[in-house]
Amino acid sequence: MFADRVLSGMRPTGGLHLGHYHGVLKNWVELQHQFECLFFVADWHALTTHYDTPEVIEQHVWDMVVDWLAAGVDPAQATLFIQSKVPAHAELHLLLSMITPLGWLERVPSYKDQQEKLSERELSTYGFLGYPLLQSADILIYRATRVPVGEDQAPHIEFTREIARRFNHIYGKETGFREKAEMAIKKLGSKKSRVYRELRNRYQEHGDQQALAAAKSLLDEQQNLSLGDQERLFGYLEGGGKMILSEPEVMLSLASKMPGLDGQKMSKSYNNTISLREDEADVIKKIRTMPTDPARVRRSDPGDPAKCPLWQFHLVYSNEETREWAHIGCTTAGIGCLDCKQPVIDAILAEQKPMHERARMYEEDPTLVRNIIADGCERADELAQETMRDVREAMGLDYS
Ligand code: TRP
Ligand code: SF4
Repeated sequence: MFADRVLSGMRPTGGLHLGHYHGVLKNWVELQHQFECLFFVADWHALTTHYDTPEVIEQHVWDMVVDWLAAGVDPAQATLFIQSKVPAHAELHLLLSMITPLGWLERVPSYKDQQEKLSERELSTYGFLGYPLLQSADILIYRATRVPVGEDQAPHIEFTREIARRFNHIYGKETGFREKAEMAIKKLGSKKSRVYRELRNRYQEHGDQQALAAAKSLLDEQQNLSLGDQERLFGYLEGGGKMILSEPEVMLSLASKMPGLDGQKMSKSYNNTISLREDEADVIKKIRTMPTDPARVRRSDPGDPAKCPLWQFHLVYSNEETREWAHIGCTTAGIGCLDCKQPVIDAILAEQKPMHERARMYEEDPTLVRNIIADGCERADELAQETMRDVREAMGLDYS
């Protein structure tokens, strides 16, 4: 019923590094060519855990947007915006909170996990408990159909689906819905209405998912049906009412293979990162001083790539041929570690060159970034208002 729309958000945690690039941003850059995409800075989400250090948020927001642009996220293809500049997210969050059982929030795994992990922070707050619901509002307000996230976020998307279902169940009942749906069926024409009824029966009586899918695609193809009727017939398939909020699908992005400088996962908290816009000289220095196989003390000692953090970088950056050269060179002591590191250094610098070039333009003229975000916020707000009109109406708030 709704065309595919991709939405994802990132908390403004400061400058991004190559782990973010390989884990998330490269994926966004690809998606923007395939789908309508919305990408936003989740600054309110940052406040749920960092409410006592508000002074860092602003700088982090702009640094992160420049990193997105540097990585190749293209404002001509995707809508880029900031959550707090589209206040309707907060309105939907509040309205959804009316129907959200506390137990559902308490059972989201990240709630207890993060409280334990970030034990130095006081996270027994209303805002932190509501984190997944705010995320649901972010997604549902755009009727996003696909949400690319890492595996840790999958429970939040599942939670969002449950909230959408509950909302539709409670508010999707229009007076005279059944009669209106029956009238809409007649408008399909005699042959198609027979097929629709048959598929609907098969789904409702036997839970036949294939029949459900077939009925949905039948509706998708109807061009002479009004949007309202089409929505009713979608709702009528699955039970009672109208579908006001649509359930998003999770698009799991594969965990980033990007290792850190010490062989652990690249992460700011391990202090083992190369930032997206790291200076050339620092990239060189960081790779040159990276630890290697500890058994390779002298140049003449053969090494074992399996025990070397640098080897992980070859797996990300080198082709077959270079890897073979490094592998043989290492295990036979034919090359030194600095020789082995050089192709990795070259590959990282080549990857970063276009990023530096794009970033330079935005660093020199910050108003460019402000304008991109202003345009994106305006567009996002328009889309959000479309959903909010339906939500307010469904919840009895459309009086003036
Ligand atoms: N919780 C997400 C994270 O920490 C960020 C986020 C907020 C998000 N709202 C979203 C991601 C909506 C996808 C969709 O990574
Ligand atoms: Fe690591 Fe390469 Fe040195 Fe072998 S030669 S230990 S793979 S850096």
